[in-house]
Amino acid sequence: MGLWREARPHPQRSSQDKSSGNLRPVLLLEWFLSRIKACWGVIIRKPMFAIVSDIHSNIEALSTVFADVKKRGIKRVYCLGDVVGYGPNPKECLDLIIDKSEWCVLGNHDYAVFYEPTNFNYGAEQASFWTRDVMEMEEDKAQSDKRWRFLGELPMRHTLETRLGPTKTTIDFVHASPRKPINEYIFPDDVYTNPAKVRLLFERIKHVCFIGHTHMPGVFLDEPDFYLPDELGGVYPIIEEEKAIINIGSVGQPRDKDNRASYVYVEENKVHFVRLEYDFETTMKKIYAIDRLDNFHAERLRDGR
Ligand SMILES: [Fe+2]
Repeated sequence: MGLWREARPHPQRSSQDKSSGNLRPVLLLEWFLSRIKACWGVIIRKPMFAIVSDIHSNIEALSTVFADVKKRGIKRVYCLGDVVGYGPNPKECLDLIIDKSEWCVLGNHDYAVFYEPTNFNYGAEQASFWTRDVMEMEEDKAQSDKRWRFLGELPMRHTLETRLGPTKTTIDFVHASPRKPINEYIFPDDVYTNPAKVRLLFERIKHVCFIGHTHMPGVFLDEPDFYLPDELGGVYPIIEEEKAIINIGSVGQPRDKDNRASYVYVEENKVHFVRLEYDFETTMKKIYAIDRLDNFHAERLRDGR
């Protein structure tokens, strides 16, 4: 539009103007530059990456999340661990995470299946042993090796130095906490009952840390304080002056009394919390049909606890 409007002869300029022939390439160049500028505006506003965690062998929830990620045009997905444990589809979830995520860190349930369960209750421990048996019974050796290698090579931490929109940042990604990356729980109540612990955890990070593990989404600040996603209008802006530990919630076993799958995506410097309804009744039926999986693992999906 701009090209044709500007390329028309100026009304005050004679049609005999000898410079009009030279003007056309300049106008073309200007038009191209304006288009590049407009496109760049779209590019930098596009979602940059999504983060998923605590899938817990729930393929219905994970498929729903990946469909939403695709719909938003998000190309990069990072994973904070606990791909397996509790749920009925460990192999399918591992395959999807191996295929769709750029990297994943080690969760305590991934550790339990590959090495051994540590401080697990009976139901969680039994689910780990069942998961291990199902994986070991895989007849496709190449596929089986790929899954075991993935679990065995998961790192405990991933660090990213980057710029998010206007904010220069160092981001740590762990499953549980910056101090004990696999096992330590950081609960919202800790800011009141154990503020010294939360302050110590903040000393372990340079700027921002994404975590999962408790299956309860929200943002810890170093005051210390904790904000639910709803209290932030569903969006937390990362700014250079403020440290934050951000729990992204659980894809496959939410425990904040909201049974919808939880994940986040980061666009420029903004962390968007997303909740999605999924077919948890199908997952529940699968769990009920497997004797070695505790029925409680099914009921908590319905209740979000
Ligand atoms: Fe978990």
